[in-house]
Amino acid sequence: MQKKRTAVLISGRGSNMSALISAAKAPDFPAEIALVVSNRPNAAGLGVARAAGIRTLVLDHKEFADRIAFDASLDAHLRIESIDIVCLAGFMRLLTPWLVERWRNRMINIHPSLLPAFPGLDTHERAIAAGVRFHGCTVHFVRAEMDSGPIIYQAAVPVLPEDTADVLGSRVLRQEHVIYPAALRLLASGRMAVEEERVQIDNARMPAEAVVSPKV
Ligand code: GAR
Repeated sequence: MQKKRTAVLISGRGSNMSALISAAKAPDFPAEIALVVSNRPNAAGLGVARAAGIRTLVLDHKEFADRIAFDASLDAHLRIESIDIVCLAGFMRLLTPWLVERWRNRMINIHPSLLPAFPGLDTHERAIAAGVRFHGCTVHFVRAEMDSGPIIYQAAVPVLPEDTADVLGSRVLRQEHVIYPAALRLLASGRMAVEEERVQIDNARMPAEAVVSPKV
């Protein structure tokens, strides 16, 4: 099996990156984490990636004239490294439509809400303020509009009366770490297609965590 060379893009802590790195250690995992890229030189996740023996790259966005210059450099590095798949994992930068198109259906993102509800920032605060009973996370293909694109996996968690944003966020994060590796596995194994902007999964059972509300 030729493992798909995968780049993980981060801006901070990198806990989803760590979940992908751990999953990719399994011999039958169809992707290898070949590169971790951060747009912030002090992202904590960089140290974690280096400790795991993964090649890292810092592209400090402040050193680029504009968004397109940053994206052109990022794209060039991804190509030099023969990357097949890009995973955005807490990468807090808007990408240009040009870059998104170049990686169409090969770039995925994790977002801490049940999209299309609550795109953008502060999703846990907003879920509590809206009074929703369920919240969760989504892995989706990246499209030019922020936090949009064909949905691969979602996991739902209950919102409890005493929840703070931090408590709810931790409950969601545990599920992020389950569905992101599952989505990468599916994409890298070629068992998924996008048809009319909806994801069709071939012959694959959804992991139980992705379709039922897990225990709190
Ligand atoms: C995660 O909760 C991820 O879903 C979110 O940032 C956090 C990064 O944490 N991403 C977004 O909000 C993207 N719109 P991590 O660095 O520990 O993976």
